Amino acid sequence: MDSDKIIDGRLYSSQVKAEVKEETERLYIEKGIQPGLAFILVGDNPASQVYVRNKGKACEEIGFHSVTKVLPEKTEENQILDLIKEYNEDSSIHGLLVQLPLPKHINEEKVIESIDFRKDVDGFHPHNVGKLLIGQKCFVSCTPYGIVEMMKRSGIETKGKNTVIIGRSNIVGKPMAALFLRKDLNSTVTVCHSATKDIKEYSLNADILVAAIGKAGFVKSDMVKEGAVIIDVGINRIEDKSAPKGTRLTGDVDFEGCFPKASKITPVPGGVGLMTIAMLMRNTLDAASGKMY
Ligand code: GUN
Repeated sequence: MDSDKIIDGRLYSSQVKAEVKEETERLYIEKGIQPGLAFILVGDNPASQVYVRNKGKACEEIGFHSVTKVLPEKTEENQILDLIKEYNEDSSIHGLLVQLPLPKHINEEKVIESIDFRKDVDGFHPHNVGKLLIGQKCFVSCTPYGIVEMMKRSGIETKGKNTVIIGRSNIVGKPMAALFLRKDLNSTVTVCHSATKDIKEYSLNADILVAAIGKAGFVKSDMVKEGAVIIDVGINRIEDKSAPKGTRLTGDVDFEGCFPKASKITPVPGGVGLMTIAMLMRNTLDAASGKMY
């Protein structure tokens, strides 16, 4: 396998985390500030439990103070809002993250909007989303932010490229489109979604193809242009009898099929997912050091 083609999430995420760690030490020495990040996890979604645990581990590695509040599935919306208010007012907490998805009876929008936008290190608050769209400094959703960072670090040119994003979620697709549109990346952007008539018609024209639909192996080789850069955002657990646990993680891209055509490609695992956590650390440090607001 031509390993030069792999965009190495392990390498770039450890670079970002090392930089954040060093700046965190400096912030403490110079200003006596230790960044603090609070996690709120509601219910017992196994994937969310893993994500929050991994984010907590990263905080420990870097030297952040972190607290995780786990609430039962049946928790009422008001209790969550009260807890958010507490963290909003707590000066030892600089970043506040409510892991999504929330149980169905909770109004996700209301919860997100109750987070102080200056502590919204997820970049989900309408204040930050709006600023992203008009090109102002703000907290950017960690997964698309991580993708940009990986692309910059691996020297991928985005200016004037046809960038096609498959998926229009608030967490990935939409902020990703806004980032590629900004003057610093300067791509021509197309967003495909579940109502797009013929995704292949667009994806075949993509110099950069971002797959964020949550369907294992959705992007097949015949959908990809020769020489395309392929960014796989998917984290899907599929059955695999040969794997020790009987399941394994795989992306939204048929990696083996698309690899020969790609000029660069992110693997799953070992790609975008690791960058998401690294950029959360970056956002939290920026919140603590008052760089953003
Ligand atoms: N659920 C899936 N991705 C994310 C994320 O980046 N942040 C939060 N809070 N929830 C998520």
